Amino acid sequence: MTKRLVVLISGNGSNLQAILDACQSGELPASVVCVISNKADAFGLSRARNVGVEAVHFAKLANETRQEYDKRLSDYVTTKLPDYILLAGWMRILSSSFLSSFPNKVINLHPALPDTFPGTHAIERAYEAFQRGEIEHTGVMVHLVPDEGVDDGPVLATEIVPIHKDDTLETLETRVHQTEHHILVQTIKNLLTDKVRFHP
Ligand code: GAR
Repeated sequence: MTKRLVVLISGNGSNLQAILDACQSGELPASVVCVISNKADAFGLSRARNVGVEAVHFAKLANETRQEYDKRLSDYVTTKLPDYILLAGWMRILSSSFLSSFPNKVINLHPALPDTFPGTHAIERAYEAFQRGEIEHTGVMVHLVPDEGVDDGPVLATEIVPIHKDDTLETLETRVHQTEHHILVQTIKNLLTDKVRFHP
């Protein structure tokens, strides 16, 4: 049966596009039933609308606490009956007010290897660490989101991304994003077909 995916984004949505394309081509036995952004101007909302997928700017209300926002978001996402909720560039930490409703269903993508460069600007920080001779490569990971830990949780997949001496930040970003598009789709596919391997 076709699985239902909800995708949370905050920006460009190139990873969302990879998911939409994979659903469209049949590579993923799934459909994106809703795309939600916390930012009104996220380009990913247009990507969703372009293919007829519901796209929602979920704005924080005046005087609303983080927990209240997360509960309202959780209530909305619940109405979509999602099999998985994919954080594809969602740049907002979800509290237990959201996560407690979706155990083992929230999946995050991060442009770095486990325990390295959590948070924002991970590729830039890896690039700078390489320039200082501190690392030889970077990578990407896909992981479950059990709690409020930032870019942390049971790892579903990782892939090393080499950094070359003549890389600019832009060439490294392109390589990381290409790797993300591939690993995210492959990991969702593995989850949907019960082939995922957990790395404790
Ligand atoms: C991706 O590189 C994703 O891994 C990152 O945001 C980017 C979104 O790109 N997420 C994080 O840094 C989470 N801490 P996209 O909007 O083009 O998919």
